Amino acid sequence: MMGVYDQDGLRTVHNHEFVLDPDFQRAYARGVAAAGRDYRWHWRVHVGLWAAAGAAKLPGDFVECGVGRGFMSSAIMTLLDWNSTGRTFYLLDTFAGLDERYVSPEEKAGGVMQRNAQEMASGVYTFDVAAVRANFSEWNNVSVIVGSIPETLAEIRSDRIAFLHLDLNCSPPEVAAADALWDRLVPGAFVLLDDYAYQGYRWQKVGMDAFARRRNLSILSLPTGQGLIIKPASPPPVR
Ligand SMILES: C[S@@+](CC[C@H](N)C(=O)[O-])C[C@H]1O[C@@H](n2cnc3c(N)ncnc32)[C@H](O)[C@@H]1O
Repeated sequence: MMGVYDQDGLRTVHNHEFVLDPDFQRAYARGVAAAGRDYRWHWRVHVGLWAAAGAAKLPGDFVECGVGRGFMSSAIMTLLDWNSTGRTFYLLDTFAGLDERYVSPEEKAGGVMQRNAQEMASGVYTFDVAAVRANFSEWNNVSVIVGSIPETLAEIRSDRIAFLHLDLNCSPPEVAAADALWDRLVPGAFVLLDDYAYQGYRWQKVGMDAFARRRNLSILSLPTGQGLIIKPASPPPVR
């Protein structure tokens, strides 16, 4: 009997045996080691690992916009035995929190910069790029790109991308990344939106919904607070 899953804004009696899976446990533990703390977001990591495992069956590199200390990406690289994949994982972050120039007026009015200051003060966001690089040093083919999105997007050299994780805690650079990378996503590629439905992050949903409408796509809203797009195999007709 599993009991109740009750953390990270999600309370459910539904089956969550994935938490007992040894591969999940090993990957999650590596995420905890990267972050230096347990965010208690098992179901979100389960979704991320599932999407990454699906993407690993496709050709293409992986991209994460918003890396922080590397919880999710370290868990993914552990699960996939990254050095055996021959792919590059592009990891983009300011490593200095949000860039105010790329936060929308609506988000600023909603207190996003105050939340950013708290995340920086509490150490959830990091300035320590050397420590982040050290965390990833066990893996080959990792490209840590330091600076503000959208300015750094041109440094993603890949022309085939199978997995894109957007986790920037603000909308305009997430939409810019989705726009810039969409044509390079291979058919069936997984685009995971960390904050799409998360309480308190509504402008990211508004931005990605507009992105989806422009491409005649729909986004799967998940009870974890994430959103998921799987790139259609052939382009949907433009409305
Ligand atoms: C929620 S954290 C990412 C957490 C990470 N995915 C994990 O698994 O732990 C959000 C990150 O986005 C970064 N960020 C926010 N706006 C950015 C921008 N315009 N360009 C680059 N990084 C940005 C912040 O520095 C912060 O580290």
